[in-house]
Amino acid sequence: MKTVVIYKSISGFTKKYAEWIAEELKADLLEYKNTNIDQLRIYDLIIFGGSLHAAGISGVNIIKKNLHILTDKKIIIFTTGASPQREEIFDEIKQNNFTPEEQEKIQFYYFRGGFDYNKLNLPNKILMTLFKWKIQHNRNKSPDEIGMLAAYENPMDFTKKENIDKLLKYANSL
Ligand SMILES: Cc1cc2nc3c(=O)[nH]c(=O)nc-3n(C[C@H](O)[C@H](O)[C@H](O)COP(=O)(O)O)c2cc1C
Repeated sequence: MKTVVIYKSISGFTKKYAEWIAEELKADLLEYKNTNIDQLRIYDLIIFGGSLHAAGISGVNIIKKNLHILTDKKIIIFTTGASPQREEIFDEIKQNNFTPEEQEKIQFYYFRGGFDYNKLNLPNKILMTLFKWKIQHNRNKSPDEIGMLAAYENPMDFTKKENIDKLLKYANSL
């Protein structure tokens, strides 16, 4: 099965997962900014990974907007975020980002990435500073919010290669 992994990553967490997946599946690896939909026609399995930004999957529209021309392809999408890898978080991201019809066509995974403020570009630094202020002003901070605040001081990296096992198993079953 001819496979491609496309990724959109700012600070490298999604890129790391994309590289691991491409290596394990012996797939081609493309960066989102260098990819156009025509390049994808030669593949049987298309895997897209983008990081979570305000609950949305960055860059995912390259797949969602073109589903009508990718009807003969198998499609996997994964996202990475700072949030813990919990079932309810996975469900929330899936419902926020995909219609029921899209969910039928797309196999979806969430992998915990990390957070490194210093590696963000200026617009994202500004957004994340606003988000930090919002958490700081919240009197009843959740454990996840407390963890997130700590990550502004000390970058966190939760990437683990074993997180991709389920995705690999699914891809190899196609
Ligand atoms: C502007 C912005 C918004 C973010 N929003 C979320 C979010 O809603 N949920 C989450 O879990 N992580 C969020 N994050 C954290 C990133 O998704 C996380 O750091 C991700 O692993 C980064 O991957 P990358 O380095 O490949 O871009 C956000 C980060 C930025 C910069």
